[in-house]
Amino acid sequence: VPVFFQQQINETTRLAIWKIEEPESFFLGNVPLQTEVTHPKKRLQHLTGRFLLQFLFPDFPYELIRIADTRKPFLEDEQYHFSISHAGDYAAAIVSREQRVGIDIEMPSEKVERIRHKFLGEGEAWLLRPIPLNELTLLWCAKESVFKWYGKGQVDFRKDIYLKKIHSGNETIDVFFHKTNDLLEIRYHDFNPLILTWLVS
Ligand SMILES: CC(C)(COP(=O)(O)OP(=O)(O)OC[C@H]1O[C@@H](n2cnc3c(N)ncnc32)[C@H](O)[C@@H]1OP(=O)(O)O)[C@@H](O)C(=O)NCCC(=O)NCCS
Repeated sequence: VPVFFQQQINETTRLAIWKIEEPESFFLGNVPLQTEVTHPKKRLQHLTGRFLLQFLFPDFPYELIRIADTRKPFLEDEQYHFSISHAGDYAAAIVSREQRVGIDIEMPSEKVERIRHKFLGEGEAWLLRPIPLNELTLLWCAKESVFKWYGKGQVDFRKDIYLKKIHSGNETIDVFFHKTNDLLEIRYHDFNPLILTWLVS
């Protein structure tokens, strides 16, 4: 079954991760390709993300998707809020009738070690310790989902997003977002190796 993970988050919000095993033709039969995506693998990821929107809510109106200057896709009338992510052979989407949402999936890779200083701030002193790669990826993933939830671009990951605490028991991260003065609760799951974070607020 290509549905790798699926969850009804609350009454109006649903999330799914799809393991991509189909050829492009499968998705092109279901999803209109609005933007030109030249790289075949990226195109397949892009199409799968779009496919998931109607998979989660069958009346999702593809033809009304607009792309903001920040490159965030959205619906003008906000009939649905949605967020999409892809990594390797996986695509994920979260869709809500009422709440703003952000999602990110990542495969741990050395890349996050290299950019660590760009996304972890001085205030996050509790993170100044050796961090295992999967945990560091989780922290990056968490900040990416806040960025996508916010949707307006112009976020300084070090200064604007402050990771306060990880609760590994219930798989949540407390985050303070300076741009909106919101205390947010990120949800996460480590599928090992795939990491998932999402935010609904
Ligand atoms: C845009 C961005 C969030 C994409 O993340 P990514 O991990 O490269 O890719 P993902 O697969 O997770 O997400 C891509 C999807 O995000 C969505 N997206 C693109 N721009 C977005 C934005 N500004 N806001 C919300 N969602 C956005 C799109 O749906 C896109 O997929 P699609 O084009 O197929 O529809 C990321 O590249 C980015 O710009 N991050 C902020 C960078 C930054 O400020 N870093 C500073 C610290 S180093």
